[in-house]
Amino acid sequence: MIHPDCERILISAEEIAAKVRAAGEWLTEKFRGKFPVAVCNLKGSGVFFCDLLRAAQIDAEMDFMAVSSYGSDTVPGRPKITRHLFSSVAGRDVILVEDIVDTGRTLVTLRRFFAERGAKSVTVVALLDKPSRRVVESCADYTCFEVGDYFLVGYGLDYAERYRNLPYIAVLKENVYAK
Ligand code: IMP
Ligand code: MG
Repeated sequence: MIHPDCERILISAEEIAAKVRAAGEWLTEKFRGKFPVAVCNLKGSGVFFCDLLRAAQIDAEMDFMAVSSYGSDTVPGRPKITRHLFSSVAGRDVILVEDIVDTGRTLVTLRRFFAERGAKSVTVVALLDKPSRRVVESCADYTCFEVGDYFLVGYGLDYAERYRNLPYIAVLKENVYAK
């Protein structure tokens, strides 16, 4: 049943699973015979990352980093890398897995981060895209769902560290973050 703090389910678990399968097939085609490093941008991408990598029949290293937006809970500020990767990306094909491209600032920061460290290529797979919110020009190479300007939770996305474990993506009730 839907969580009482959620207004409505925007994307069901079944719809997510179908798109994740398709994204996995896209990665399988693109990285056949290669050994890319797949990077999970914690924490929001964690759930998507694990499902996506299992849907892709590729040989990939899994690595993790964190970028914090240092804004308020629903209004992002300037992104800063708060946890670095375990491995080096120099000379590697990188698959960056993102939960959502919102203003685009995180993506710009991370593409620059990988370029500066000598990555051979960077392929971005995003679960969600909110094109109406973009303030810097940036986009993923593969997007599962384009969504409107709602504050969303579930399937990795949080509000104040809650709701990440919901199996669907839902619109949070406004009174929850207006409190
Ligand atoms: P950016 O604005 O594109 O840099 O995205 C920054 C981060 O804001 C994303 O990686 C998410 O963690 C977070 N974010 C943006 N929109 C939402 C949302 O609707 N729900 C939860 N987190 C969001
Ligand atoms: Mg967040």
